[in-house]
Amino acid sequence: MYTPTKSAALAAVLLGLFAAASTTAIAAGIADTKHNLSVTGTGTIKSTDQTEICVFCHTPHDAIKNDNIPLWNHTLSSTASYGTYASPTFNATDAADIGGVTEGTAAVSNLCLSCHDGTVAVNSMNNPSNARPTTTMTGGSGAGSAFIPAGNSNLGTGATALKNDHPVNFTYDGALVTADGGLKNPASLTGVKLFNNKVQCASCHDPHTSQDPTGMAFLRVSMAGSTMCLACHNK
Ligand code: HEC
Ligand code: HEC
Ligand code: HEC
Ligand code: HEC
Repeated sequence: MYTPTKSAALAAVLLGLFAAASTTAIAAGIADTKHNLSVTGTGTIKSTDQTEICVFCHTPHDAIKNDNIPLWNHTLSSTASYGTYASPTFNATDAADIGGVTEGTAAVSNLCLSCHDGTVAVNSMNNPSNARPTTTMTGGSGAGSAFIPAGNSNLGTGATALKNDHPVNFTYDGALVTADGGLKNPASLTGVKLFNNKVQCASCHDPHTSQDPTGMAFLRVSMAGSTMCLACHNK
C-alpha cells in the first residue's frame, strides 16, 4: 500500500497555496491596478499627495445625482458626440450616442469616458475628500499632468470616436436574441454584466480588478480562447 511521505504531503499543501496565490494575482484588488490613482498607485498616472483610492470615482456624500450610476464623484465629460457603432448585421435598435449627456442622463459608459475621452482631468472631482482637499497629479498629459494622453487608453471625442469600438449603450434582451440568432440568453450570462439590461463598457470591464491573466485590461472574464466573447456570443 502506498503511504504518502511527509514531503509529498507538504508538496500537496504548497501546491494548494500556490494555486490560491495565483488566483489572487489574477483577480487582484484595485490597489494593484492602474485605477489606483493615489500616491500608492502602481501605474504612471498617479497622485503626489492623495492617499484615498475610491475618491477619484466615488464619494459617500454629494455624489452626482443620477439613478443609474453608483455614487459617482468624477466630473463628467461635456463632449457633445462620440458617434455610434453601425453595420448591416447589427440588430440593436436603441443604440444612442452617449455624447451630450447631463448629470441626470449619463449612462454607465459615460463614467469611463469621463477620464478615457481625454478631456477631463483624472483628479477633477465633484466632492474632494475633506481630509485632503487638494489632489495633485504626475505622469499624465496636459495641465497639471492630469489627463490621459493620446494613445490606446484615450478613446477620443467626436462623431467617429466610438464607431470603431464594440457597441455599447443598447438593450440586450430576448427580442435582440431572436433578431441576431447568435446570442446567449441575457438572463443567464456568466461573468459579464448588463446594466438596466444594457451592454455598457463595464459589461466586459470591471474597473476594480481584472480576470485576464495576460494584462491589466480590467476584464471581467479571461480572454484566453476568447472566453469572454463567448460569454455572450454563440459562435
Ligand atoms: C477609476 C474609477 C473607479 C475607482 C477608483 C473605483 N471605482 Fe467603483 N465603480 C467604478 C465604475 C465605473 C462603476 C460602475 C460600473 C460597475 O459596476 O462595474 C463602479 C461601481 C462600484 C460599485 C457598485 C457595483 C458593484 O460592483 O457592486 C461599488 C460598490 C464600488 N464601485 C465600490 C468601489 C470602492 C469601494 C472603491 C475603492 C476601493 C472603488 N469602487 C473605486 C469606478 C471606480
Ligand atoms: C478617474 C479616471 C478614470 C475612470 C473613471 C476610468 N479610468 Fe480607466 N484608467 C484611468 C487611468 C489614469 C488609466 C491609466 C492610463 C495610462 O496609463 O495611460 C486607466 C487605465 C485603464 C485601462 C488599462 C489600459 C492599459 O494600458 O492597460 C483600461 C482597460 C481602463 N482604464 C478601462 C476603464 C473602464 C472600462 C472604465 C469604466 C468602467 C474606466 N477605465 C474608468 C483612469 C480612469
Ligand atoms: C465587448 C466587450 C468590451 C466592451 C463593451 C468594451 N471593451 Fe474595452 N476592451 C475589451 C477587451 C477584450 C480589451 C483588451 C483588448 C486587447 O487586449 O487588445 C479592451 C481594452 C480596452 C482598453 C485598453 C486599450 C486597448 O485598446 O487595448 C481600454 C482603455 C478600454 N478597453 C476601454 C473601454 C471603454 C471606455 C469602453 C466603453 C466605451 C469599452 N472599453 C468597452 C473589451 C470590451
Ligand atoms: C456582454 C455581452 C457581450 C460580450 C462579452 C461581447 N459581446 Fe459582442 N455584442 C454583444 C451584443 C448584444 C451585440 C449586438 C448584436 C446585434 O445587435 O446584432 C454585440 C455585437 C458584436 C459585434 C457586431 C455584430 C454586428 O452584426 O455588427 C461583433 C463583431 C462582436 N459583438 C464581437 C465581440 C467580440 C469579439 C467580443 C469579445 C472581445 C464580444 N463581442 C464580447 C454582446 C457581447
